[in-house]
Amino acid sequence: MTQVTREHFGENVEKWTLQTPQVSAEILTLGCVIKSVSCQSKDGQVDDVVLGYDHLEGYVADRRYFGALVGRVANRIAGGRCVLEGTELRLDVNNGPNTLHGGLIGFNKAVWHAEPVNGGVCLSHVSPDGDRGFPGELHVSITYRLQGETLTANYEAQTTKTTPINLSNHSYFNLAGQGTADIYDHEVSINAQSYLPVDDTMIPTGEVRAVEGTPFDLRKAVLIGPRLKEVPGPGFDHTFCLASPGDPWKERHTARVCHPPSGRVLEVSTSQPGVQFYTANFLDGSLSGKAGVRYGPHSAFCLETQNWPDAVNKASFPDSLLRPGEKYQHVTHYTFTTI
Ligand code: BGC
Repeated sequence: MTQVTREHFGENVEKWTLQTPQVSAEILTLGCVIKSVSCQSKDGQVDDVVLGYDHLEGYVADRRYFGALVGRVANRIAGGRCVLEGTELRLDVNNGPNTLHGGLIGFNKAVWHAEPVNGGVCLSHVSPDGDRGFPGELHVSITYRLQGETLTANYEAQTTKTTPINLSNHSYFNLAGQGTADIYDHEVSINAQSYLPVDDTMIPTGEVRAVEGTPFDLRKAVLIGPRLKEVPGPGFDHTFCLASPGDPWKERHTARVCHPPSGRVLEVSTSQPGVQFYTANFLDGSLSGKAGVRYGPHSAFCLETQNWPDAVNKASFPDSLLRPGEKYQHVTHYTFTTI
């Protein structure tokens, strides 16, 4: 049985709480932010395992996408441009030379309309034709449901004109409890045979490289601290391929992260063809999070289930276009248990 309650969180924003005996999750109507996920350790200690802020002002000013739904197109589009049915789209350039997470004002900054559903909340939003350069009026919704220890996110969208789309959630997890300095004692496995190497602006080169024999081979659980030292650059910020272009829509087991000291385990499964594994490399201790904690590099990990970045510019990547009459539909499950 899931309890669903709502309350005001600032003037125009609501906070919804979904609660079961195992897990409690708070969701904001601003950006569909997952504000907290509280779950037990193996010794019965309840901690919040996602990073964020205590107050609305933090989320309004936030530039790190803590907990948010990212769109219309999560991740990067090279050069802030693409050609769609013969027309060039010019998008916001907000990350080096590229578009990141929908541009200057993404779906994470919209206040969504919320309705209760059985065991959860459905949040919807209408993104107008031309929003940040993207064509078509997009009707988009996400339904969060909590059942036992599993939080489910169901994404749906329909458009009036062909548009690129890629919706994801940008929660930063630390299974030791948010505010813990790093994730070095977490064990991670990702069920991917290949990953996408990137150029120096973080755009995939187009190569789909086997993980075998590389630091990106996470098919068997590895301790993240030592493995981070083997990865080029500041840490993991890469797409792992879960499905090949053209593969049928199917939900797949994606990743398992275990924090042995607390016994907490997060398992993720998704219908999306990829997952961006990001080890919070760009948190630098400058912002003040929940209870005033300064979040540093590697203080969390993100498992952003999504399509492959820059797919709209790469014919060999999974299709990222939504056409009128089609329905965009994806699901991601997050399960919080203990060993
Ligand atoms: C990207 C990172 C970026 C972060 C923004 C991730 O999805 O891959 O490069 O810094 O989002 O918070």
